[in-house]
Amino acid sequence: MHPELIKLEKTFTPSILTKIDELLCARFGIDLWMKRDDQLHPVISGNKWRKLKFILDHALYSGADTIISMGGMYSNHLHALAYVGKALGLKTIAYIRGDNPDLLTPTLVDLKAWGMELRFISRTEYRQLRQYKGSLDLPGLKPQQYWLPEGGAQALALSGLAELVEEIEIAYDYLCVPCGTGATLAGLIAATEDHVSLLGFAALKNAGFLNTDVSTLLKQSKSNWHINLDYHFGGFASSTAELLSFMSAFEAKTTIQLEPVYTGKMMYALYDLISKGHFSTGQRIIAVHTGGLQGDRQRKR
Ligand SMILES: Cc1ncc(COP(=O)(O)O)c(C=O)c1O
Repeated sequence: MHPELIKLEKTFTPSILTKIDELLCARFGIDLWMKRDDQLHPVISGNKWRKLKFILDHALYSGADTIISMGGMYSNHLHALAYVGKALGLKTIAYIRGDNPDLLTPTLVDLKAWGMELRFISRTEYRQLRQYKGSLDLPGLKPQQYWLPEGGAQALALSGLAELVEEIEIAYDYLCVPCGTGATLAGLIAATEDHVSLLGFAALKNAGFLNTDVSTLLKQSKSNWHINLDYHFGGFASSTAELLSFMSAFEAKTTIQLEPVYTGKMMYALYDLISKGHFSTGQRIIAVHTGGLQGDRQRKR
């Protein structure tokens, strides 16, 4: 590992397991825990560090001085990348979906403050960028520039998830995670033993493509995983009063903050599935808190 990354990681807080003591779980005999990756770091939290760590290592050892990536105006991925770029002395450039807004989102304000160069592009151009998957694939890339696809979904991202799995010191039946690009889920599948079931919860509507994307990233055939497509609440950036009210109640009871794009949907789904008897009595479920709270700074609580 590159010495700069080792130095940075020394400032991190361990991601602990928190037991979710809920009447619902007791009633159905389910042992529910959260892996608190949201606590890893105030900015590079959740799955962001897990996915970026080995990519950054590769970029630094390849002699890159610039990382170029893409994302939306609330992107957790770009937020972490801009911060880490500044911390490591790397230049960062981002292609942002949509027009330059008159009023910057809190995420964009931070990206600029951390020195990321923002290039606003149309939705069509943005979609075209999705085809470039490898670190050298972006047309026009200059020497020492490193391309990172949307959400950091690149093969090297999977290695960091193995570290998350290694940290879990208790036996468990299910490991659950929200899905955007599916890279985090793919990393967890690759690192988990076959007797554990992996459950991904799609944040996007019509996300059936995730099955192919995860299989492609995995590069190995495993059958102990499933992506649930039913809890998108209308789509990626959508939420409902029911979801927000679930999140408020969860936050009040557990003091664990969720956000409506990923972790809120996953926890709602898990509660719903538990209440419908989807899991067997005595089973232990670990849900990964993938962070992302920065993207939710404009919500009134
Ligand atoms: C908070 C949060 N959770 C989950 C995900 C989904 O991760 P992936 O794109 O690896 O599926 C993301 C997106 O990267 C995210 O920002």
